[in-house]
Amino acid sequence: MPDSLFAPLTLRDTELRNRVMLSPMCQYSAADGFANDWHRIHLGSRAVGGAGVVMTEATAVEACGRITPGCLGIWSDERAEAIEPIVEFVTSQGATPGIQLAHAGRKASHHPPAEGGDPISADDPDGWETVSATDEPYPDGDGAGGGGPAATRRMDAGDVDEVIESFADAAVRSLDAGFEIAEVHAAHGYLLHQFLSPVTNDRDDEYGGSFGNRTRLVREVVAAVRDVWPEDKPVFVRISATDWLPDRDSWDVDDSVRLAPLLAEAGADLIDVSGGGIHPDQQLPGTGPGYQVPYAEAIREGTDVPVAAVGGITEPTHADALVRNGRADLVALGRELLRHPYWPLEAAHELGADVEWPVQYQRGRFD
Ligand SMILES: Cc1cc2nc3c(=O)[nH]c(=O)nc-3n(C[C@H](O)[C@H](O)[C@H](O)COP(=O)(O)O)c2cc1C
Repeated sequence: MPDSLFAPLTLRDTELRNRVMLSPMCQYSAADGFANDWHRIHLGSRAVGGAGVVMTEATAVEACGRITPGCLGIWSDERAEAIEPIVEFVTSQGATPGIQLAHAGRKASHHPPAEGGDPISADDPDGWETVSATDEPYPDGDGAGGGGPAATRRMDAGDVDEVIESFADAAVRSLDAGFEIAEVHAAHGYLLHQFLSPVTNDRDDEYGGSFGNRTRLVREVVAAVRDVWPEDKPVFVRISATDWLPDRDSWDVDDSVRLAPLLAEAGADLIDVSGGGIHPDQQLPGTGPGYQVPYAEAIREGTDVPVAAVGGITEPTHADALVRNGRADLVALGRELLRHPYWPLEAAHELGADVEWPVQYQRGRFD
């Protein structure tokens, strides 16, 4: 009997009720990193809607690692306490709560997209100094606010050690708050990706240059998180499988296939396979149904490390086929779950899978 979208998945000793994951999605709705009612409803309704994994948005491990002033943070116990009741509710609905631990590096200190998305300079009272693998700023800032890119500071050895510690401390707080999955965000051009990609990593120390050096930080972060994360609970890593910059020295799928087993060795249990974000010149191959699935498949085939596929997946039969055909172990849905919070319950009906509905909603069942 092949696995299917609604077959449980056990990673370490943690059983996910099905293979549907709410993909991490920034809500730009936190105040000073604190979760509030918006996060409760956003995450809570996807748990009610039947998702197997409910993953938070990128949640900053340091205040300076927030993409925008409205991003979630877990750099203090108070912030972990604010999200704890939400995690408890998600768990009470049978979903497995995950937290995406993140640091935006040079892509931090920006206005949210709804306000133009431009960089906020460190001199602005709403902004802060950003750090990166490089001192080259992210080349943006010509949007509604004009102004051009904001400066960034190249991290020294002390900063690197601090960031590793911040990820580990954030993982400890996440565990205290009740999360069962820790996902390290190493994708989309954020800090760890800035170290991985030769597009942004121009260092000449032990964190730059060779493949081994550029991958060192993410491997050390994953190992540090694994060190504090319980043996029975999984660690995920989200990567950009490719920079989509084929015409220059950049990160590509072969690099990702090479990296995945090293991440597994460092303690990762699943690679969540996304793409892009390192540079605005990226050439997306389109965003049609399953546009990033081939990367997940390449990693799974080349390495035996479990993967999540994400990107343009909206149809239950498509999601189910990805699992049944062994192309992905988990299927992450982003925008489709914004449109349809109860997508998993409806998908189960369409696929003829028997899933439990919240007792309060029993009379809404299709049968
Ligand atoms: C509003 C929004 C916010 C997002 N924020 C994050 C994020 O915090 N972390 C992340 O890894 N990806 C983020 N993404 C990317 C999604 O997780 C997902 O990978 C992407 O939208 C493609 O999947 P989809 O076609 O199912 O939406 C975001 C996407 C959207 C639409």
